[in-house]
Amino acid sequence: MFQESANYLKSKVNRSPGIAIILGSGLGELAQKVENPVYINYQEIPHFKTSTAPDHKGRFVFGSFGGKEVVFMQGRLHYYEGYSLQEVTFPIRVLKETGVKTLIATNAAGGINKAFAAGDIMLIEDHINLLGTNPLIGPNIAYHGERFFDMTYAYTPRLQQIAKESAAQIGLPLQKGVYIACTGPSFETPAEIRAFRLWGADAVGMSTVPEVIVAVHCGMEVLGLSLITNAAAGVLGTPLCGQKVIETAQKKGREFEALIERIVEQI
Ligand code: HPA
Repeated sequence: MFQESANYLKSKVNRSPGIAIILGSGLGELAQKVENPVYINYQEIPHFKTSTAPDHKGRFVFGSFGGKEVVFMQGRLHYYEGYSLQEVTFPIRVLKETGVKTLIATNAAGGINKAFAAGDIMLIEDHINLLGTNPLIGPNIAYHGERFFDMTYAYTPRLQQIAKESAAQIGLPLQKGVYIACTGPSFETPAEIRAFRLWGADAVGMSTVPEVIVAVHCGMEVLGLSLITNAAAGVLGTPLCGQKVIETAQKKGREFEALIERIVEQI
């Protein structure tokens, strides 16, 4: 199945990017800076599902960015949309088949760490999977990777270093921390957030972890970046609002774009 989808992409796009960048909620506009873009809607690709999440366009954008051949995923699939984690991570396997070696996964997240403010960007150093399941449950896809594999260095140290240096070069403060994935679509309760803080989590979201697990399984290097769009539930005592999450992400789009461009240049 992956090969069929990958072959379709190869037949439509005469490019083989080494870097894939998943654009999270509110961050889709980053793909506008791509030179010579080629757009492929998920809908037209065999075996592909399409994103129903707000502000997720549901297409690949191939082109050059930061001096490299890249493919953006403008929109991703989420577990809360009702897709299985195999479906959520299917595009990662397809990208592997097309020759992608590096995954940059971005997302919008709530800040659990009290030192974080809305608008901060957090480098993901590690994650906690609270989805209650794993995208690799089922037969192992042995030609992509081993059944049991290490997650100690899931977020590639070399890429973390590049991200820190890139942020410093453009004068952008970069937070660091642990991302915890919940299913959503309800936001978390204040009690859950207090518990997650005790576990060592710094930011909470509804994505990224499945894609990262599959990317590591199939041998990709991974970088994760969260845009902190809001203080997590209970931190400020004000209610959370989905629309506000997207607006905050959109406002920070420029800085995020500059950071990712600088990172891509140095990969
Ligand atoms: N919780 C979960 N997901 C999110 C949040 C949040 O507070 N903000 C943006 N995505």
